[in-house]
Amino acid sequence: MQVILLGPPGSGKGTQAARLATQAKALRLTTGELLRSAVRDGTQLGRSAEGYMNRGELVPDAVMIGLIQEQLNRAAVGSGFVLDGFPRTTAQAEALATMLCQHGGRVEHAVLLDVPEPEIVARLSGRRECAACHAGYHLRFSPPQVVDKCDQCGGALIQRSDDNEATIRKRLAVYAAATAPLVDFYERQGILRRVAGVGGPDLVFAAIWSQVS
Ligand code: AP5
Repeated sequence: MQVILLGPPGSGKGTQAARLATQAKALRLTTGELLRSAVRDGTQLGRSAEGYMNRGELVPDAVMIGLIQEQLNRAAVGSGFVLDGFPRTTAQAEALATMLCQHGGRVEHAVLLDVPEPEIVARLSGRRECAACHAGYHLRFSPPQVVDKCDQCGGALIQRSDDNEATIRKRLAVYAAATAPLVDFYERQGILRRVAGVGGPDLVFAAIWSQVS
């Protein structure tokens, strides 16, 4: 399975990428997680990406293409992959096609998660993650058993620094300007799979799986 997940912020890419990669026993690459981990570790990548992320802007293409190239060089692409958060611009999509070609792979399915904007804002403003183990929660849709505590490790639950209302609006605008054109890009190649991203994670997963398996 060689799949990329497209969709606006909060459309469920991360949630579904984890499920798909487990079910298909495929490599999962989530650029947002890679960047947040680099920020926490204070690496050069993290220091250069942090400002863009906090402002809801895209990290420059050259940085992101270099990051994915490095990850693909380390991994066995042949056994399949699920990419979440990359590509996000036409330049990234073109670079990905070239990189995969070098590794004997290609994008088989570009899954677009379609979620209405009011639902996106509700999802992102209620999202929390464990500061220690990074397990994900939602105040309304998947709350922890004890308020503000991680069910798995007891760590404190925190809000992502880019999940405030102003930055959410900026991320949505950036998505519309820079990433939405990829829908046409993959539609022209005949590999775009549109999936309704609402109705709960199990239902969405079943809809994706029926299109890519
Ligand atoms: P990134 O982390 O990729 O953020 P994003 O695209 O804005 O997506 P999110 O992680 O916010 O949402 P998601 O679609 O994964 O939804 P999730 O499953 O979490 O990127 C962050 C930043 O990094 C970017 O702004 C940019 O600065 C930088 N960056 C990353 N990649 C880059 C690139 N390629 N180029 C340049 N810059 C890059 O779900 C959201 C919430 O909804 C959760 O609480 C979840 O529990 C809940 N939920 C999920 N599915 C459902 C459902 N079906 N029903 C109800 N609730 C649901």
